[in-house]
Amino acid sequence: MNTRIFHPETDDNYIAEAAAILREGGLLGLPTETVYGLGANGLDEEAVRGIFLAKGRPQDNPLILHIPDASWLSRCCSQVPEEAYRLAEHFWPGPLTMILPRHPSVPLRTTGGLETVGVRCPDHPVTCAIIAAAGVPVAAPSGNLSGRPSPTSAAHMQEDMTGRIHGIVDGGPCRVGVESTIIDLTVTPPRLLRPGGLPLEQLQEVLGEVAVDKAVTEKLAEGEKPRAPGMKYRHYAPKAPVTVVTGSARRSAAYILSCVEEGDGVLCFDEYRDLFRGHVIQSLGSEHDPLSQAQRVFDALRAFDETEAATIYAQCPGSEGLGLAIGNRLKKAAGFHVVDADALPQVVLGLTGGTGAGKTSALRALERLGGCVVDCDALYHRMLQTDEALRGDLVAAFGDIFDPVTGLLDRQKLGSMVFGNARQLEKLDAIVFAHVPRRALEETEGQLIAGLDAINLLQSGMGRLCGRTVGILAPAEGRIRRIMTRDGISEEYARLRLQAQVPDDYYRQHCTDILENTADTAAEFEQQALEFFRQLIKEELCRKP
Ligand code: TXA
Ligand code: MG
Repeated sequence: MNTRIFHPETDDNYIAEAAAILREGGLLGLPTETVYGLGANGLDEEAVRGIFLAKGRPQDNPLILHIPDASWLSRCCSQVPEEAYRLAEHFWPGPLTMILPRHPSVPLRTTGGLETVGVRCPDHPVTCAIIAAAGVPVAAPSGNLSGRPSPTSAAHMQEDMTGRIHGIVDGGPCRVGVESTIIDLTVTPPRLLRPGGLPLEQLQEVLGEVAVDKAVTEKLAEGEKPRAPGMKYRHYAPKAPVTVVTGSARRSAAYILSCVEEGDGVLCFDEYRDLFRGHVIQSLGSEHDPLSQAQRVFDALRAFDETEAATIYAQCPGSEGLGLAIGNRLKKAAGFHVVDADALPQVVLGLTGGTGAGKTSALRALERLGGCVVDCDALYHRMLQTDEALRGDLVAAFGDIFDPVTGLLDRQKLGSMVFGNARQLEKLDAIVFAHVPRRALEETEGQLIAGLDAINLLQSGMGRLCGRTVGILAPAEGRIRRIMTRDGISEEYARLRLQAQVPDDYYRQHCTDILENTADTAAEFEQQALEFFRQLIKEELCRKP
């Protein structure tokens, strides 16, 4: 079969010609605001049969009738309740399908044997004009081969349907990008059967209470029947298996980073693209832009099939607004293989080690993995100015060591009390260690991966708050070289500084893990640290609680 492509901008008579295909029982690809549909005369049993054949669609999966305005409702439905007209007034033309009692003129083949029928008025002037010209309600499922992602451009439609149907009207890319929302009005309260381009919240504003069908959010048990038969089928799936990661975008990104292997695919928000450099990336649009996420989701899923991605990880928006539909499509593509990054326990890594060993590079690596790193020394100095509890304890122990006018710590005064006086120093440490670790953890609240950077990680007891404590070590000669360049000091002085430090063996004995800096350059060590932390995080995330 030759598939004719109609271009509305250049084909003068396309409306009449496209309408003729429908009237004569043919199959026509049609643009709508949601996705492209595969249309046929919905009252013609033979034509409808053609749709099922062309798509390879199971016979029990009913089709939606498309009409050009609400006045056609009574032609398709035996009974039209007042709320149907109310919804039409609010949301038609638009991405809303209503399930209503079937009119006897609508063949059971169209409704998959059901006594109800789905009806919607698409928000696409070209398609509405063609339907009106055809003069019949047009049955149109999404125009993909059964199981594939829905087509959101004429090119997608051609990919799946060339040679199988009579024509495709090229109406450009779809504005909404996910299919219509389906609401069943034959039950009380009305029930959401499929989330889609019209957010649930907007339906609730008009209808009040709306029940949400279980198939929207969960995988159904073997043999369990959804109310929209189509919701039971594996759908939208690219060839490679998909894991959907829900939860805050930062946490899902951190989780994916710790799992993703070379050659894997990542479907991520724009903001996280850089994190996944080197992998097969498809972007879902900005984390804050649900409209573009909806437009992108099917195209992105399709695009993975052109790549070698062995397995795919997908970030998932929250379930408010359009997010419910986008997340539903992603989860269906994943066969409901979902990890909730918000439910994972926080991974806390403590980092310590002597000066010049490369801790700064290691911290940068941890941040590249999505870690939230707290510099505990800087935090302590901030707290000296702002934390009333810490300041109060210090004053109680050492008297008025804060300047009464500026409020700043008089370092000399405190120094003269504690240096060379072991008991006083112990007292100071006890106070600091009672306050700083607690605050350090607070700073990382909500983050999946926390890094606490502290010289006295082990001495302060902070190590006990960490799942792993990492000592960063390096051979003495390398450290001396690094301190000399970094601080612009002589070799002699650098050696003295090193001698004053805690010996490497202390870290070897007390840390759970050691990261040896044997690299020649900082960049090389950063990469080494990245692989090291990735492994640690993976182990921690996979550890049974
Ligand atoms: O946005 C859309 O709705 C697109 C465009 C082309 O309009 N169409 C679309 O059709 O998504 P389709 O066939 O891919 O999905 C229709 C869904 C299926 O899950 C089907 O089971 C459900 O609607 N459905 C249709 N009639 C129904 C009925 N009478 N009762 C329950 N569910 C029904
Ligand atoms: Mg479909």
